Amino acid sequence: MADIRIHDKTFTPLIPAVKIAERVAALADQINADYKGTKPLFIGILNGSFIFAADLFRQLDIDAEISFIKLASYQGTSSSGNVITSIGLEENLNGRHIIIVEDIIDSGRTMSTFLRDIRQRQPASVKVVVFLTKPAALQYPVAADYTAFEIEDKFVIGYGLDYDGLGRNLPDLYVLK
Ligand code: IMP
Ligand code: MG
Repeated sequence: MADIRIHDKTFTPLIPAVKIAERVAALADQINADYKGTKPLFIGILNGSFIFAADLFRQLDIDAEISFIKLASYQGTSSSGNVITSIGLEENLNGRHIIIVEDIIDSGRTMSTFLRDIRQRQPASVKVVVFLTKPAALQYPVAADYTAFEIEDKFVIGYGLDYDGLGRNLPDLYVLK
């Protein structure tokens, strides 16, 4: 696997697509077992989670629904500090088992804000499934229930994650050089 250039920066391979597929399948197995007989509602956070959510959702063998919400706290390669909601959630969450799907928990700000909002809507339960966590970058007290990979506090792209809009289509994960 070779380095790639996006805008002004060089990125180097970190996790190949085959390894990602293995971890996604393992998480789906766990969720299939944990949610057997329930009908959870997955809520994917756009834009970053769309590929992870699609791959995970296709491996479920339980009855499940999915919806998406748009939040953003990033500009370029550093957090802008503001969590913005730009697409609302129409579903009634009362009494539902909710599984939030996110691409990455970095500072945890996005997820902690969103969790507060979700818990106010009286769901039966709330869990978080996340493709990546950066434990060293965490500033807000949020914990994922299912995590595909823990990575160092470095900027990554691919598998849905972008650098200023580009790189989401890369099947492998790359890290800033
Ligand atoms: P947090 O609110 O600081 O946890 O940031 C979470 C959001 O920032 C994620 O949903 C991503 O969209 C974005 N983000 C955080 N780290 C990275 C990264 O390494 N690459 C691309 N986007 C990132
Ligand atoms: Mg995101």
